[in-house]
Amino acid sequence: MALIYAVCMIMEPQKSEETAEYNVEEEEKNVALTFDDGPGEYTDRLLDGLKKRNAKATFFLIGRNAKEYPDVVYKMVKNGNLVGNHTYNHVRLNELSEEEALSEINKTNNLITILTGKSVKYIRPPYGHWNDEIENQIDMKEVLWDVDPRDWCILDSESVVKHIEENVKPGDIILLHDIFETSVDAALEIVDILSEQGYEFVTVDELYGEK
Ligand code: NI
Repeated sequence: MALIYAVCMIMEPQKSEETAEYNVEEEEKNVALTFDDGPGEYTDRLLDGLKKRNAKATFFLIGRNAKEYPDVVYKMVKNGNLVGNHTYNHVRLNELSEEEALSEINKTNNLITILTGKSVKYIRPPYGHWNDEIENQIDMKEVLWDVDPRDWCILDSESVVKHIEENVKPGDIILLHDIFETSVDAALEIVDILSEQGYEFVTVDELYGEK
């Protein structure tokens, strides 16, 4: 497992400085868990676990997966979590035409709104690749991350927990993927550990002071 961990960490990091532009209220010791690529078969258990721990999270959904789990998407919002856009087919937006990129985003927004009754304000572009041509045509905020434990590569909850515990600081956004059982286990464990240290788990709009 140590070798897998090393290999996963050597791969080119996608961490960005984007989040630095936001005015993060660090004294509050808030942190935002974010989950990409779902919903999946473990998401419902994650929602129950978060609710039990009084923790909120943000979910960046793939539209085609949201369509498979409409009840889970509704439950996300009902439980006080925030839902964002991760495109309909998990595409690289920078490799698409303007029209295709807009379609990927709008189709996902429309579906989420139908399922939750809420408009969608935040987007996390797959692979962190944005399409500059559409930037001015959609009224959404791009959300990247600060802590990336490479959970999709490591697939070991203890290593994921350890990475987050060693790297997190107040105001951070943590990247995870709720389509993996190991990531769901890690998320619930990290909520328990960081709650003990005085952290509050908030949605990204709360973290940005936009809620
Ligand atoms: Ni993704």
